Amino acid sequence: MTSQTLREARKYEEVSGKMIREEERPEFHLSSRTGWMNDPNGFSWYQGQYHMFYQYHPYTSKWGPMHWGHAVSRDLLHWEYLPTALAPDEYYDMDGCFSGSAIELPDGRHLLMYTGVSREHLKHGFSREVQTQCLAVGDGIDYEKYEHNPVLDGDDLPTGSSRSDFRDPKLWRKEDGTYCCVTGNRPADGSGQILYYTSEDGFHWKFKSVLVSNDDRFGKMWECPDLFFLDGKWVLLTSPQDMLPKGFEYHNGNGTLCLIGELNEDTGVFRETHDQSVDYGIDFYAPQTILTPDGRRVMIGWMQNWDSCGIRSPEEKWFGQMSLPRELSIRNGRLYQVPVRELDEMRHNKTAYTNVTVTDTVCLDGIKGRKIDMELTIRPADAENPYQKFAVRFAQNERYHTALSFRPRESVLKIDRKFSGSRRGSIHQRRSLVNTVNGELKLRIILDRFSVEVFVNDGEQALSATIYTDQEAENVSFFADGAVNMDVVKYDL
Ligand code: FRU
Repeated sequence: MTSQTLREARKYEEVSGKMIREEERPEFHLSSRTGWMNDPNGFSWYQGQYHMFYQYHPYTSKWGPMHWGHAVSRDLLHWEYLPTALAPDEYYDMDGCFSGSAIELPDGRHLLMYTGVSREHLKHGFSREVQTQCLAVGDGIDYEKYEHNPVLDGDDLPTGSSRSDFRDPKLWRKEDGTYCCVTGNRPADGSGQILYYTSEDGFHWKFKSVLVSNDDRFGKMWECPDLFFLDGKWVLLTSPQDMLPKGFEYHNGNGTLCLIGELNEDTGVFRETHDQSVDYGIDFYAPQTILTPDGRRVMIGWMQNWDSCGIRSPEEKWFGQMSLPRELSIRNGRLYQVPVRELDEMRHNKTAYTNVTVTDTVCLDGIKGRKIDMELTIRPADAENPYQKFAVRFAQNERYHTALSFRPRESVLKIDRKFSGSRRGSIHQRRSLVNTVNGELKLRIILDRFSVEVFVNDGEQALSATIYTDQEAENVSFFADGAVNMDVVKYDL
C-alpha cells in the first residue's frame, strides 16, 4: 500500500523532473531527479542492476523532510530514475527517512535498512529528535515498511549513548548467511562511535559491540559508516562532523575519514593502524560502497560539502550530485581510488601530446571541453633547475576558470574554484600534500559539466569539487613558473 505522502512525491517528481533538460545536468554523475539530494543510500546490486537511492527532498532545492529517491544503472554511469522509494509517512519516520543501505535477501526480495526520525515531545514545549533503525522490503520499485519497525531503538544502545544521534545503518550479509550492520552514534562524551549489530535473518537485530570509539580524535559525531574487507585489511569509512584541521590531512568542518586496521570478529572490536582523508578536495561526503558482481569494491560519495551548499542557488531546479564511482584498493598501506573501468568505455576523440615544454601559458589544440578525461604527467624540463609552480586551468574563458596548481618544493597541490562563477563567500580552495619525486606528478582530471574530480599519482589521492561555471567556459590552459615538461592525453566523455 503506498501512502498519500509517497504518491504525492511520485506525482510531483514525474512532472517536475521533466522540466530539467539533459544539458542542465551532469552527463554521467547521478543528480537529483528534482529538488534536493544528499547522501547515497542503499547502493546495491539487485536483479541485474545497480540500485542507488539517495536522501531526497523533491519539493525544493533545500534540505527538507527526507524521502529516498531512486535510480538504477547497468554501468554505474548512465542512470535511470525510478519512482521515490520511501516517504516519511509512519509515526516512527514522520520527520524523515534518513540514510541507510540495502541488500538482496536469499528469497529475492530487496531489503532496505534506514533511519527513521521522529520528534518526542517533552515538558514545557520542548521536543527532541529520536532516531531508530527501520526496515522496508520490496521488489526494486515498491517497498513496504516492515510491520515491526523500528528494529533497533534506544533499548539497543549501550549506556549513555544518544538516542538523537543514532543513524545511517550499513548492513551486509556474511558468507555464513547471517547479517551485520554498523551505525553512527554519539556516546556520553559527545564525540562519535560506531556501533556493531548482528542478526540471524536481517529482521531481528541485537547489539554486539562498540566497534570503535572516536574519543574526540576526529571531529565529533561520526555519520554514515561503512565497514568492509579489502586487500587483506579491514576498512572503516565514516564522515565526521565538526572536524578540526590537522596539517593538510584533515580540514575544518565535515570531513571524510578512512581507518585501515584489523577487526576481531569475535569481540566486534576494530583497531586501526592507519588513518587518512578519503577525499582531499572540497566536495565529498558520506560515501557508501558496494561489492560488484565481479568482486570490485566500488565507492560513491555525495559530491558536496554541507558547509558549501550555498554555492548553488536554492532557486535552481536541482541540487546535489554523486561523485564518480571509484574502485578501491589498498596499496602501500593507503586507500587508493580510481574511476571505475566502465568510464574507459565512454572515452572518445583522443588527443595526445608528449614532451610539451611549458614555460609560460600554453593552450593546446583539441584540449578543451567540459566533459573530458585528461591525464597529465609533469616533470621538470631541466633537472638542474626545477620549476617553482605548475598550474592547469579549465572551465575557462575570459571571465572564469578553475585551477589546479602544484608547487614541487612544498609538494602541495591546490584546487581553486574562486573564479568559477560562485557569488558566495564559502570555501573555494583546498590544499593537499601529495607525493612527488623530483617534481614529477601524475594527474587524471575528469570534468562532467558541473564538477571536477582529480586522481593524483594513479589514485593515491582524490580531490573533488563542484563548479557551476557557465558551460561556454570550456578552455584548458597550462602554466609554469620555470620550465615543465608535460605529456597530455585527453578524451571527450
Ligand atoms: C549525512 C547525514 C546523515 C543523515 C542524513 C540526513 O550527510 O547527516 O547522517 O542520515 O544526512 O539527510
